[in-house]
Amino acid sequence: MGKISSTVACVALLGTVGAQAQDAGQVNIICSVQAEWCNMMQTVFAKSTGIKVNMSLKGSGEALAQLIAEKANPKTDLWFGGTGDPHLQAAEQGLSLEYKSPALPQLHGWAQQQAAQSKYRTVGIYSGPLGFGYNPELLAKKRLAVPKTWADLLKPEFKGEIQVANPASSGTAYTMVATLVQLMGEDKAFDYMKALHKNISQYTRSGTGPIKAVARGETTVSISFVHDGPGEKMQGFPVETVTPAEGTGAEIGSMSIIKGSRNLEAAKKFYEWALTAQAQQFGAASKQFQLPSNKATPIDPRVPDFKKIKFIDYDYAKYGASVERRRLIAKWEKDVNSLPR
Ligand code: G6P
Repeated sequence: MGKISSTVACVALLGTVGAQAQDAGQVNIICSVQAEWCNMMQTVFAKSTGIKVNMSLKGSGEALAQLIAEKANPKTDLWFGGTGDPHLQAAEQGLSLEYKSPALPQLHGWAQQQAAQSKYRTVGIYSGPLGFGYNPELLAKKRLAVPKTWADLLKPEFKGEIQVANPASSGTAYTMVATLVQLMGEDKAFDYMKALHKNISQYTRSGTGPIKAVARGETTVSISFVHDGPGEKMQGFPVETVTPAEGTGAEIGSMSIIKGSRNLEAAKKFYEWALTAQAQQFGAASKQFQLPSNKATPIDPRVPDFKKIKFIDYDYAKYGASVERRRLIAKWEKDVNSLPR
């Protein structure tokens, strides 16, 4: 009898140990920043914890679409990076798990506010302003002046010279749509985007596509996050950035743990690590210059100086709400993207 029960206890224990080993063994992450940063996070976390990181790279809108598709049977444990609006939508749709990190007080107010308004289903990990990228060599060659305002982008001489991403797949482009609506009012913003459409050569899938095209001389101007400029410049490409004089929006790049995660302990470990000042330095180390959310993270001099930029008072809760985000994207598809150029 004693023998049997101890065997049972032993098997049960082994089972628990096995399950724990499996839980701590791997974590499935969707990563919505650029590849170099994703890869660095993957490698360093795996090396320091022994936890295998399965990383898949997806734009913010695409990541949300995948999480919606796998809701009944989630394969993802954590979503790292990408603009905050779709993270808020994920929170509202019950796709992400409520989790209050003990590290919250170490974060800037905007990152804590992102957590609070999602009822602790997401958290801010970085922030960055929207603006324009331009290729000074191409502008000079075409005798075009540097665009300094949203209005400048409508000038006829920019016909076919501008790229921006598609707001359905890209959080960068959705930030533009939401920014313009808040800056101009909805009707004027859509009139503006219809007029801008004539000057757009291509709507790319990814938010960073346009500034990479600018850097490589494939297009003259992009609508991009300005923190994506210095990394291209460091590779030797001619690219500069500017923020529009009328005012602009900023993203709160976010991170969420997925509800139903099968590797929850590993996901929480990654989450806590990603909020440390030490891990947040891997952004700049991989040539991505957003403002980190942990107040103790050293700020690289290439991070845009927020004090010098005119910002709108971006309503993250409103523009991260599912109904509003879906409505604006559908309206953009119907009223703007479908127009001939
Ligand atoms: C780049 C930026 C990030 C941003 C992300 C959004 O990686 O550096 O700050 O969050 O793009 O990507 P998306 O493709 O969704 O516009």
